[in-house]
Amino acid sequence: MTITILTLFPEMFDGFQTNSIMKRALGKGVASIKVVNIRDYTKDKYGRTDTPPVGGGAGLIEKAQPIVDAIRANELPNTHKILMSPRGKTYNEALAKNYAKVDNLMIICGHYEGIDERVNAYVDELVSIGDYVLTGGEIPAMAIADSVIRLLDGAISEDSLKDESFNDSALEYPQYTEPYDFEGQTVPDILYCGNHEAIEKWRRKQSLKLTREFRPDLFKNLQLSKKDLKLLAELEDENPPKWEVDAIDKGKKFKKNK
Ligand code: ADE
Repeated sequence: MTITILTLFPEMFDGFQTNSIMKRALGKGVASIKVVNIRDYTKDKYGRTDTPPVGGGAGLIEKAQPIVDAIRANELPNTHKILMSPRGKTYNEALAKNYAKVDNLMIICGHYEGIDERVNAYVDELVSIGDYVLTGGEIPAMAIADSVIRLLDGAISEDSLKDESFNDSALEYPQYTEPYDFEGQTVPDILYCGNHEAIEKWRRKQSLKLTREFRPDLFKNLQLSKKDLKLLAELEDENPPKWEVDAIDKGKKFKKNK
């Protein structure tokens, strides 16, 4: 997949492509990113890409011509084109999964006070990354490129993708590292028991608990299995269930790195 990004600020994408997991994924050829400067396409003799709005009003509006010509000149076969806009549909993991399946993606970043309305007719959809207004579409474009690329084969390990937040709309379980005791907060003993089934069960329970507490909107849409309902019932009891106590007891031989 090639992700083509149309922007007036191409340098903003330098750090994005040259660090961390994006750098590795792009280096491995998981995807490629092409950053296009919209200004290269303006027909304005002074190189301008924006102008005051017709009818008056504050600020400068991005002209349609440079953007539309940039789209036409850089569109690859089967390209899904999205325009970053606070007015668009709210981005989420389900959309990221859809975009990860397209052949090519084009992300158009708006800037300044707005963009000529007629550009909308040249894209497939308008997308927002949340109900707040940023000064431009570059940060939203990075958020989308990052969340799509990490889903592509070879970007990160299958295991990392398996358990994470939003996979079945539940938040990810809490994670811990050594040492056992960090300033009085300890790692839950079950994680030292060595019984992978018990650990997985405990993690699912925590995942359900966190989702119910922090994202009731997601929790209400969860498809809860019989096992899930049992785990949720356990949360009502202030004492840990027998399977948890047994697993911890049996695992006492595993040493904590205190
Ligand atoms: N441009 C400005 N704010 C935005 C947002 N929240 N999402 C997408 N594009 C934007």
